[in-house]
Amino acid sequence: MFGYGWTFIFIATLHAVITVADQTDCSNEEPSSRYQAFAGEEFFFQCLSPSHKPQYIFNQSVVYEKITEWFYQTDNGNLMEIKNSNINKKGSALWFSPVVIQNSGDYICILKMENLCLKISLKVKAKDKKSCLEYGQSSLYLIITSKSSISCPSLSCQQGLKRSNLTWYKDGKEFTEQPNRFSLKINEVIQFTITYASDSGNYVCDYVRNMNGSQWIVRAIVEVKTGVRDTRNRPTILDPKNGTNIEAELGKPLDLKCRVLFAFEKIFQPHVKYFKLHPDSKEEQLKQTHLSAPEKDLEGTIYILTTKLDKVTTEELNAKFVCHAQNSVGNSTAVIKLIRKTTDIVFLVYILCVSVLLLLSLLIGSGMVYIHWIEIVLLYRNYISKDETIGDDKDFDAFVSYAKQSLVVDEATSDDSYDEERFATQLLPSVLEDKYNYKLCLLERDILPGGAYIEDIVNITKRSRRVIVILSQRYIAGPSLFELQAAINCALEEEPLKLILIKFKPFIEPESLPRIVKKALNALPVVTWKTKSKPSPSHVNDATKFWNRIRYHMPVKKNKTHGENVFSKRLTVQH
Ligand SMILES: *[C@@H]1O[C@H](CO)[C@@H](O)[C@H](O)[C@H]1NC(C)=O
Ligand SMILES: *[C@@H]1O[C@H](CO)[C@@H](O)[C@H](O)[C@H]1NC(C)=O
Repeated sequence: MFGYGWTFIFIATLHAVITVADQTDCSNEEPSSRYQAFAGEEFFFQCLSPSHKPQYIFNQSVVYEKITEWFYQTDNGNLMEIKNSNINKKGSALWFSPVVIQNSGDYICILKMENLCLKISLKVKAKDKKSCLEYGQSSLYLIITSKSSISCPSLSCQQGLKRSNLTWYKDGKEFTEQPNRFSLKINEVIQFTITYASDSGNYVCDYVRNMNGSQWIVRAIVEVKTGVRDTRNRPTILDPKNGTNIEAELGKPLDLKCRVLFAFEKIFQPHVKYFKLHPDSKEEQLKQTHLSAPEKDLEGTIYILTTKLDKVTTEELNAKFVCHAQNSVGNSTAVIKLIRKTTDIVFLVYILCVSVLLLLSLLIGSGMVYIHWIEIVLLYRNYISKDETIGDDKDFDAFVSYAKQSLVVDEATSDDSYDEERFATQLLPSVLEDKYNYKLCLLERDILPGGAYIEDIVNITKRSRRVIVILSQRYIAGPSLFELQAAINCALEEEPLKLILIKFKPFIEPESLPRIVKKALNALPVVTWKTKSKPSPSHVNDATKFWNRIRYHMPVKKNKTHGENVFSKRLTVQH
């Protein structure tokens, strides 16, 4: 097992030696440079080419990592790959973080591209009392705008030595006084009369000393950070303000928020919490809390703490809640109270107005439908309804029953009765027959005289779909009332028959009126004929309404006026 391991290492190193031999082999030469470092500190050296500009001691470019090979040379002269966890290739340098005593020795770097081989010696010294009195600060925090300085930490460790002057580097480049920066002075120590944020970086101080006849570069690194001074203030609770009342609805969930600004602190330990303050000033920590991710602000960092109340209780409505924020300086609190939410009056009024408007439009809509119901039904019939006259074995759409002149003896009222008869025999047929294609039955016109009057009436009534009764005082008091009586009886027996009563003239029901007729007069629909002596626009309108109502009660029948618009094409009638 061990044998195998050693063989492997031997082959590996042999291979490395051969690789080196292919290039320039410098493993047997004197080191080209020697460095001294202090244990426990960051440290680096780079692989320098002869064309290298001396003011650069480090280049971060990864290009170098690919073209440089680093080896450690053991005491017997063999080269070994570097596998220490604290040593890494970084840009043009080999970086030790941190460097330890065991890292002392010779290092070989090979720049394949440039056929370059360099040997670098490293001596790591312990920072013990014997070799180092006091090592300076190797990491600094400088306050921006204030006065500050950087001194070489290794110098304070090795006071009184013979050495060269110091050379300062910042981020790999030589750092010297600048003609346009008056706030910078370098006299072994770097001094800023005003510090800028850009003064942060990696500072290196090098000096040369002679040891055992050779020159050693003593190198130390100072890591410099810049920033603002620690705050002297307690945290600021931005929201809610102390003493605020927060509206809450009973039984509803509620999120209590607290926004806190923490000003800058190098050692930053912010604390925010919410608690309930009982009347006996006992504090009860709230459970369901969530702290938001910090949010950077010009003045510091903002945190938002959210506390969830599942259901606001009556007890909570009277309790006080406290947001408490703390930093290293001190604490701040904001006390809030939950109050019952008052319902928004404006919103209620708005809702009320909208509801009233809706109701109103609904009423108007239904009013329109009510007023124009007959027209709507007629329109509907015209387009959709089935013809109800087909196949019912009836000869007439309506039998017209009216007071006949021939049966009237009273001469004084003959003018009036003529009017009534003319309405029944002329106007009614001229509209219903000629215009709407209904077939009417007029006793004088359609029935041959000579038959038995009573039988004829019953017969005709049965052969008709409707009976139109033209009511007047004369009709009620006269013999034609029999026709109405017959029609009522017939309608009671036979379902398809319906009665349409036209109140042609006002009348008084006589005491002697049969009970059945009285009932019918009260129960059946009555269409009133409004007599007007002179035609006028309102008269035309009334007449149209009248005929529409008659048609509404007439059977549904497809006729030649199919498709007529009852709304636009008004009917004009003349007496
Ligand atoms: C670092 O190396 C790269 C690649 O060789 C070069 O382009 C760049 O100028 C160098 N930077 C410095 C600061 O020397
Ligand atoms: C908050 O600060 C006050 C002084 O301002 C102190 O008396 C109190 O104990 C502090 N509270 C907590 C919880 O640290």
